[in-house]
Amino acid sequence: MSIHDKDELALFGGAPVRSVPFPPHPVIGDAEKQAVMEVLDSGRLSSFIAAPGVFFLGGERIKELERRFAEAHGVAHAVSFNSATAALHAAVVAVGVQPGDEVIVPPYTFTSTATCALMQNAVPVFADIEADYYCLDPAAAEAAITGLTRALVPVHLFGQPADIHAVVDLARRRGVKVIEDCAQAPFATVGDRRVGTFGDCGIFSFTESKTMTTGEGGMLITDDPEIARIAQMVRNHGEMIVEGQKSRSYRTDFLGWNYRMTEMEAALGIVQLGRLPELNETRVRLADHLSKGLADLPGLAPPALRPGSQHVYYVYPFTFDEDAAGCPRADFVRAMAAEGIPLGAGYVAPLYMSPIYQDRAAAAFRHYEGSARYDKGLCPVTERMYEREVVLTGVARAPATEADMDDIVAAAAKVLGQAHRLG
Ligand SMILES: Cc1ncc(COP(=O)(O)O)c(C=O)c1O
Repeated sequence: MSIHDKDELALFGGAPVRSVPFPPHPVIGDAEKQAVMEVLDSGRLSSFIAAPGVFFLGGERIKELERRFAEAHGVAHAVSFNSATAALHAAVVAVGVQPGDEVIVPPYTFTSTATCALMQNAVPVFADIEADYYCLDPAAAEAAITGLTRALVPVHLFGQPADIHAVVDLARRRGVKVIEDCAQAPFATVGDRRVGTFGDCGIFSFTESKTMTTGEGGMLITDDPEIARIAQMVRNHGEMIVEGQKSRSYRTDFLGWNYRMTEMEAALGIVQLGRLPELNETRVRLADHLSKGLADLPGLAPPALRPGSQHVYYVYPFTFDEDAAGCPRADFVRAMAAEGIPLGAGYVAPLYMSPIYQDRAAAAFRHYEGSARYDKGLCPVTERMYEREVVLTGVARAPATEADMDDIVAAAAKVLGQAHRLG
């Protein structure tokens, strides 16, 4: 055997299936560069002074990005932020969550889906996910509702829409609000509507890894003028800086922060928003190709697709069955890395296992009178996905091609063909 031996696993010294890295992301083209340069040349870098007497509502590009984003979703208001975390925080305040309240979230998501409640001195209550789609299980959410529940935060995870009609129905029946976390799923659809338009508001992330990026950035959309008003005030130190109303800066009405986006970010965002349909189409095409290739391999199952919805594959998840594959997931992932295919095992640990919940390390817990629990075993489906079943790849996106996806399939076939030698 030599390093040129293609049949030998790279883990054991054979030639890897792939020796070049996958193409880098994001793709920043001439249009993005020109848009940002125009802002730099203008010298108006944040320009929250739009016109005499109109302060802190955003410069020209911010206004344009908000207008286009609202139009793209058919909603009345889009409020830009410097991250989705900031938008989540503002959303929690704007829908009326009070200190001591509970907010129901899935534990299989990014940390700030849950910590946004703690930011308002409210407490996250974790409800399990659906085994097939990995999103908040409406039945589990219903079981978690108490007299303290004020809001539900379904997450359209990995780009797959949550069971949003069931979540919204539940919320309406029980008199609680819905904040859709669309950070990973801009332009994913349920029926003919884009995610973010079903709940009381929806939030989006434009951080570097996301499907459209502004470097860092976020957006909140809503049809509710009161949610839009409060979100704008949270964005701006709790001052009365609200579209269409007389500005009143230097007077703080309630606690707010500086969550404002810059003009450079907005300029980038306008171009990226225009490219989003094409960027999503590439993800879907590559994901479909990958699903076809992986479907016949032992122990791997491509992602289930919710009928009537469009997944946009922020990442591509598949499930791993250790018995059928013939080796532990960790060994599969290690062998694939040696073949030049980077994969993630499990996504994030169930959020309730983090020290902040285990140690009740947030001010919110000092005054909390409910009985939220964070014990291991709380959400068994999430724990199973994290510990044993879910595998992710983030490389099925532009500018990668079908040939790049074929390398993933070839490496998986090679590794699984010798799975008995692993573990
Ligand atoms: C589901 C989800 N929610 C919220 C966020 C927070 O986004 P941001 O990094 O823009 O604050 C992320 C980002 O990773 C996310 O994936």
